Amino acid sequence: MLFSLEPKATRRELYDRDRELNELSGSVDRGDRIVVVYGIRRVGKTSLVRAFLSEARHPYVLVDVRQVYFTEGSVSANVLVRYVLDGFREFMGRRDRLWASLRDVLRGIDWVRVSPGGVEVRLSRRSRVDLTELFRAIDEWCEHNSTRFVIVLDEAQYMRFSNIRYDGVLAWAYDNLGRVTFIVTGSEVGVLRDFLRLRIPRRHSSVGTLRRFTWIDSIRMPA
Ligand SMILES: Nc1ncnc2c1ncn2[C@@H]1O[C@H](COP(=O)(O)OP(=O)(O)OP(=O)(O)O)[C@@H](O)[C@H]1O
Ligand SMILES: [Mg+2]
Repeated sequence: MLFSLEPKATRRELYDRDRELNELSGSVDRGDRIVVVYGIRRVGKTSLVRAFLSEARHPYVLVDVRQVYFTEGSVSANVLVRYVLDGFREFMGRRDRLWASLRDVLRGIDWVRVSPGGVEVRLSRRSRVDLTELFRAIDEWCEHNSTRFVIVLDEAQYMRFSNIRYDGVLAWAYDNLGRVTFIVTGSEVGVLRDFLRLRIPRRHSSVGTLRRFTWIDSIRMPA
């Protein structure tokens, strides 16, 4: 086999994606709120984003929306909340102080129970998990800690399989959250474009399409 099938995870492993990596980190550092990475299947979207995350100073969560859809059957808000909180906890694992400060912010949200052992999302039938509240809490936390939070929605077009209007949630986040960057990738370009119908204004956002490699590149590419 010529190539490993797994997405790559560092800049060093990536063949000829320095420019794209720099653009991606430039967009996030500039404070873009939504960054869209289009690209056909297997072109290297996940690898690019992972390599970026490995270098970024920001706390982040990567949600593989396609995997969520195929394992859960739909992309419910409860599941997304879990992913975001788990990712946060994982990132904060080694930084107890930061985690404690997030817990303080989350205390205000009644569907999240904060205990010494960590954070638990209470999913009673009646209490609807409100993603926007969670995102707002994260934004507030970032404000206090002078940082940005990056939420990657990999293969985001699967978010249309939900009873939640995520396009509306993203539009709301764009309008209201200054400290959160959503990196949205998608291989079904037309579908994602339709899904993101939200008029992503040019300000505070960027959109790129990953170019394909030629066969010469494939020969030169390390395994
Ligand atoms: N720049 C690169 N250099 C070397 N290998 C790469 C590069 N980009 C991607 N690959 C390899 O190509 C394959 C596909 O990459 P990746 O999974 O990141 O693509 P993708 O666009 O996210 O695919 P999918 O549409 O299936 O989600 C993987 O085996 C990965 O290791
Ligand atoms: Mg991928």
